[in-house]
Amino acid sequence: MALTALEKHERDAVAVLPAAAHEFFASGSGDEVALDEATAAWARHRLRPRVLRDVGEVDLTSTLLGCGLNHPIGVAPVGYLGLAHPDAEPAVAAAAREQGALYVASTRASTALEDIAAVAGPWWFQVYVMRHRELTERLVERAVAAGARALVLTGDTPFVGIKRRVGSQRIAIPDETFLVNLARHLTGDAAVGRAGAEQDPTATLEAIGWLARMSGLPVLVKGVLRGDDAVACLDAGAAGVVVSNHGGRQLDRSVATPFALAEVVRAVRERPRAAGEPRPAVLVDGGVRSGVDALVGLALGADAVLVGRPVVWGLATGGQAGVHEALAALRDDLAHAMALAGAPSLADLDASLVVPARD
Ligand code: FNR
Repeated sequence: MALTALEKHERDAVAVLPAAAHEFFASGSGDEVALDEATAAWARHRLRPRVLRDVGEVDLTSTLLGCGLNHPIGVAPVGYLGLAHPDAEPAVAAAAREQGALYVASTRASTALEDIAAVAGPWWFQVYVMRHRELTERLVERAVAAGARALVLTGDTPFVGIKRRVGSQRIAIPDETFLVNLARHLTGDAAVGRAGAEQDPTATLEAIGWLARMSGLPVLVKGVLRGDDAVACLDAGAAGVVVSNHGGRQLDRSVATPFALAEVVRAVRERPRAAGEPRPAVLVDGGVRSGVDALVGLALGADAVLVGRPVVWGLATGGQAGVHEALAALRDDLAHAMALAGAPSLADLDASLVVPARD
């Protein structure tokens, strides 16, 4: 079978990246069960297409928390993209902008967030609650000033998951890279150094309201895998959730995201909303490698889908053009799949299109 553009990038990235960098991006935590199951889980869904609908034009536009998008498959936050290509985050942000896709910048970006913002279209900023709360505040203030349209609070990383595959050749992220977005806020106080910039494992749901009040931006919580947890996040002030198991890099054997998505969507839709409260957003990521994978996620109720590693492999092999190619391939593949499913717009995608595969 001919390889897709994404498969070619994934194959070629092995050749262009130093082995340790490739392992850093590719690896999962623990026994890599969650990593291995991620893509296969999308393929465990089957489609129930509609016939004879006018699909001469397929419309992929949407509005997500006030951001107008032309492409419902956006870029997940991925740290240290400078290890993949010298053009790093700005190349990815620019490629996403070219196609009207959402870009989520990581707190662990290897480029100053102002330099990313300068070339980005609609972008969101991913935050961790760091041990040193003032560092978190300074960073969020900068993201707001630079034009971030929402914050994505990653909730599944009280500690970084242990990657067993990265053994002797483990990449040591140098301080200047780890702290690229933080260094200017550091004082001489050692506690505010690298340790202060690490995730605070004592953070709770209260951080959601804290970030929302401080920034004035919508806050989404990333890493949600349960309906009751989604409701708890929304009750604590979240504007949405990202159904994610961190690309299989945090708790190994976490449920694959397509299997968590329907439960989360149901719980979010059934939750009573306060007067004037906007409809919460639900996004999903993890193992999405084709338009049909994305179609399943959108049909199961996601407002948008995010991809991580496909963007890394595109960046590694072709810089901005490589990321452009990966996102364009996903968009074309999704549009084609929607046409064959009889769905000319994102509003035509609903859960009735999807059934579990029979064994
Ligand atoms: C990530 N991810 C991630 N998430 C986050 O909230 N902040 C971060 O800094 C990072 N960094 C990061 C680095 C690397 C190398 C990877 C592979 C992933 C998780 C990411 O946002 C997303 O959840 C997954 O990558 C989605 O899975 P796929 O598309 O990579 O299979």
